[in-house]
Amino acid sequence: ENKQRIALRGPVLSFRDDPFIAGDAAAMHYEADGLVLIDHGLVTAFGDYQQIRTQLSDHVVTEYKNALIMPGFIDTHVHYPQTEMMGSYGKQLIDWLNQYTFVTEQRYADPAHAAMVADVFLRECLRVGTTTASVYCTVHPASVDAFFNAAQSRKMRMIAGKVLMDRNAPAGLTDTAQSGYDDSEALIQKWQHTGRLSYAITPRFAPSSTPAQLEAAGALWKRYPNSHVQTHVSENLHEIAWVKDLYPERSNYLDVYAHYGLTGPKAIFGHAVHLEESEWQHLASSGSAVSHCPSSNGFLGSGLFNFLRAKQNPNPVRVGLATDVGAGTTLSMLQTMGAAYKIGQLGHYSLSAAKAFYLATRGAAQALYLDDKIGSIAPGMEADLIVLDLHSTPLIDFRMQHCAGIEDAMFVQMTMADDRATQAVYIAGQLAYQRD
Ligand code: GUN
Ligand code: ZN
Repeated sequence: ENKQRIALRGPVLSFRDDPFIAGDAAAMHYEADGLVLIDHGLVTAFGDYQQIRTQLSDHVVTEYKNALIMPGFIDTHVHYPQTEMMGSYGKQLIDWLNQYTFVTEQRYADPAHAAMVADVFLRECLRVGTTTASVYCTVHPASVDAFFNAAQSRKMRMIAGKVLMDRNAPAGLTDTAQSGYDDSEALIQKWQHTGRLSYAITPRFAPSSTPAQLEAAGALWKRYPNSHVQTHVSENLHEIAWVKDLYPERSNYLDVYAHYGLTGPKAIFGHAVHLEESEWQHLASSGSAVSHCPSSNGFLGSGLFNFLRAKQNPNPVRVGLATDVGAGTTLSMLQTMGAAYKIGQLGHYSLSAAKAFYLATRGAAQALYLDDKIGSIAPGMEADLIVLDLHSTPLIDFRMQHCAGIEDAMFVQMTMADDRATQAVYIAGQLAYQRD
């Protein structure tokens, strides 16, 4: 089982601090010749090889060259049932939901279909080096069972929840305030903290929940405060106008969630593209987090995420990167970092490699309040580690011959690399994926 002691040697990257606050160089922990010791699935030591080697005993050592050993990627917002509808042409958010999403998600009434797609989704997560994700299932409780079963068999740390939606969707895809509460509670009792799994109370977004349903979701979170909350906020201008119509008594979109007790630590809001300053301040002061979904925001034409405000001192907001598949066009966090750079550029903000890698690892873990377990390499952390091949295509190999250092190499990877760069993935200290 997991009793074996292993060690990984090679270039290693982790973060000890937030580069948006401490600066890139101070936040990075990079060892050009590093050694990571792992025992019973946990990291026991990490540092320079010459210093840490004295702690080697019966460890089985694997050495990686021309590679980068780092924490597994964390995708803070993704819809596994939408894997089968990635790249569906045309339209912005509301039309896209009606034309594609609400048709596709009805197939998850069939548990066999859910199990099949959950398996494909997690296989692809491993192939791109994603070891943890915060995942939307569908309105059907069996879609959650299918996902958690698949995650548990791979021993992956995963967050997921049943989508709550009781209006503005087809009949085959709606619950009620009461049934949504009851089904979610049963899933919490069944899955919360079994192995490495956590439950997220998941109201889809304000337009598809009645006030009664959001009130029930808030009550459920009060009853099970260890659960996460995930939803969408301020993704699209038409969506925001619709929320104003549906909730005229609330001062802004985020205030709808705040009013029902759905903001705070462990609540994470997808997109957050068009927020007002008062919404940013509430996110910061309440300890809520946002997911930046750059490939999705480009694909649906939603808008430009405001990096500068999000991470502004003195009241920065917790931010994690996310794919938002199926509006996102890739499950790869490397490609998502590349998309985040380009979205940043359109708003005259040039996201550095250190900041991008942080938002996909330790920053994402902090957004999910899991940074005591995952997202960095340090004693006591769970050994969810990936090995990136820094020469995964002929063109990248050529480009890397003209590379000026580790930050340059990281930037080349997030600009040019994809799933082919994933050389190996370790889940809780066990090899879970190895590229052919
Ligand atoms: N808002 C509500 N539901 C969804 C969804 O499934 N995808 C995206 N991108 N936005 C949403
Ligand atoms: Zn989403």
